[in-house]
Amino acid sequence: MKRQTQLELAHVLQAHVRNGATDLAPEVFRNPVAAYSDAARAQLERERLFRGLPLFMGMSCRLSDPGDYLAEEVAGIPVMLVRGRDGMLRAFANICRHRGAPVASGCGKARAFSCPYHGWTYALDGKLAGIPEKASFPGIDKEAHGLIPLPAGERYGMIFVCLSPARLPAIDVDAHLAGLGEEFGAYGFEHYSYFASQTMTPAINWKFGIDTFLEAYHLPALHRATVAPLIRGNLGSFAAFGDHCRLTFARHSSAAWDGKPDCEWDVLPHIVVVYRLFPNTIVVFQSDHLETWRMLPGETPERSVIEFALYSPEPATTDKARAYWKKNYDLAIRTVLNEDFALGERMQRGFMSAVQTEVVYGRNEPALIHFHQRLHAALGVS
Ligand code: FES
Ligand SMILES: [Fe+2]
Repeated sequence: MKRQTQLELAHVLQAHVRNGATDLAPEVFRNPVAAYSDAARAQLERERLFRGLPLFMGMSCRLSDPGDYLAEEVAGIPVMLVRGRDGMLRAFANICRHRGAPVASGCGKARAFSCPYHGWTYALDGKLAGIPEKASFPGIDKEAHGLIPLPAGERYGMIFVCLSPARLPAIDVDAHLAGLGEEFGAYGFEHYSYFASQTMTPAINWKFGIDTFLEAYHLPALHRATVAPLIRGNLGSFAAFGDHCRLTFARHSSAAWDGKPDCEWDVLPHIVVVYRLFPNTIVVFQSDHLETWRMLPGETPERSVIEFALYSPEPATTDKARAYWKKNYDLAIRTVLNEDFALGERMQRGFMSAVQTEVVYGRNEPALIHFHQRLHAALGVS
C-alpha cells in the first residue's frame, strides 16, 4: 500500500475514533438464509464462481523453484500447480490422460510426474513424455495427450487459476484485480516467504468463512479475550474495487498518531487491512506479515474446506523469528477457528433449520453488503 493511501486511511480511521463512527452503507441489506443452506444455490456457485472465475491459489513463494509443485482439490476439481524449468507457473487438471488417475499428490519438488497407476510420465510443462508398453497404444498422438492446462496468472507474488480449461489461456491479473494490483505491488509480496498453513473443514457454508472477516462489529462481544484488546470494535473504512474490496481496521495502538503531524505517522503497524478477493479469498495484511484464507465449498452447502496460510516478509531462519510468527499464526487460528467458526457452526444449524428466512446486514457492515450484492449480481439471483 502506498504511503499516500496509508495516510488517507489513517485520517479516516482517526476521525472515526474521535467521532465514535465507522463507514456506513446507504441502507441495511437483507439476504435470504437459503444463500447459506440451499443445494441449488451451492451448485450455481460451483458452476459460475468456482469454475468460471480466477481463484487465488496462494503466494508465489509456495512454488519458488523449477520443479516445485502443489496438488489439491478445488471445489471438486483435482488441480496441480507446477513451476517449469523456464520459471513459468503452470496449472493443470491433475488427471492422467490414460485413465484419469491423479499424477501428483501433496506438494514437493519433481523432475517429472509419473502416474501411480500405469506409469505414464509427464514433463513439468505438462507434455506427455513416456508411455510404458507404448506398442499397445498404436497411433496415439503424444502431443494431444499432455495434461490439460488450466488458465493461470501470476503477479505481485500471487497465483490465480481458473478451473475451466475452456477459458482464455492466461489470466490477466491486473484486469482481474480491478485496481488493487498497484496496492499489492507496493507491499512487495513477491519477496515474501511461506511460514506455514493448515486446512480445516468446519461445518459452515464457505461464504460464512468470508463474512466473518468483513466487519469489526463483532469484535467486542465474540473476541473479547483474543483480538478485541488489539483492534477497535465497530470501526472501519471500506472501499470497493470492482467485485473485490478493502476493509481497514484500526488497532488501539493507533492512538500513537494523536498529537503528531502525519508526516511522522507510522501507519501500517497500527492498522489491519483485510482484502476480500472475489469470489472466495481473504488476504489480511497484519502490521508486518500476510495471512491468507481460501474458502472452498464442501460436498454440501453446510460444509467447507478452508486453507489458512501465513507468509512473512523474510524467511524465518532463527528460533526467535519462528517463535514470533508461530505466535501470530496461533492467534489467528485461535480467534477464527475457536471463536468465529465455532459460533458459525451453530449459526449454520440455525440456517439449515429454515425457521428463519432472512439475515440482515447493518449499515455498519458495508463490506458484507458489498460481498453479497456482488454475489447476487454474478449469480443472477436476488
Ligand atoms: S491412469 Fe495414469 S498411467 Fe494409467
Ligand atoms: Fe471474527
